[in-house]
Amino acid sequence: MATLQHDTNWNPTLYDDKHTFVAKYGEDVVQLLAPQNGERVLDIGCGTGYLTNLIAQAGARVIGIDNSDSMIQRAQAVYPDLDLRVMSATDFHFDTPFDAVFSNAVLHWVLEKEAAVDCMAEALRPGGRLVLEMGGKGNVEEIVVATRKVLTRHGYYSNASTQLWYFPSISEYTTLLEKKGFRVRFAAHFDRPTELKDTENGIKEFIKMFGNAFFVDIPERAVDPILTEIQEAVRPTNYRNGAWYGNYKRLRIAAVKL
Ligand code: BEZ
Repeated sequence: MATLQHDTNWNPTLYDDKHTFVAKYGEDVVQLLAPQNGERVLDIGCGTGYLTNLIAQAGARVIGIDNSDSMIQRAQAVYPDLDLRVMSATDFHFDTPFDAVFSNAVLHWVLEKEAAVDCMAEALRPGGRLVLEMGGKGNVEEIVVATRKVLTRHGYYSNASTQLWYFPSISEYTTLLEKKGFRVRFAAHFDRPTELKDTENGIKEFIKMFGNAFFVDIPERAVDPILTEIQEAVRPTNYRNGAWYGNYKRLRIAAVKL
């Protein structure tokens, strides 16, 4: 996944074993992209390559980039024929422009959003399309709020104020795109409650996978009790019918480079 301003050590095995839903939900976004035979597509934050491969199967010539070396290594092992490269979402350049840029579940990690939008605009030919999905305003809000509260209660004030994700509203992100020369053709901000795989410790596993930057420099023995407190704090809003949910709010956008 793309540029992280914090040291999130991606674990491709844990990611594929317990968080396959990230890529699975992205299949809809590939449908919105509607990749065409022979066109050049860039997949930003390709992770373990599942969606990049779907795009390639549609006949597109796709390049996947991700700034996690371990994710790219895993993707390359599974899909040896794909063109995959370790690159940052905020600092990439290709000499030949793309017909389409695609990104799923990545851009909320990119705090330097202007730099990412600049790179995406620069990578597209005029008339080229951008199709993206990311966490939108209010995404996993209960988990974020509980994490900050519990860390503060334990005296970890600077951990509590860690800015890990950027979850914009429609107007914030489309304004950014319009300023950089895109015409937004479609934008939606919708709820997608997402069942987490681990029925016992779904929230703890989610935070261990995606939110480990909140726990930098916290002694190992203190981490698990904090995670348990966070999980219990969100039980009323995130646990139902025997399963844990992330209350995802997605921002889905299709735009054209002018
Ligand atoms: C998301 O895809 O919305 C997301 C995933 C991990 C952490 C935060 C948000």
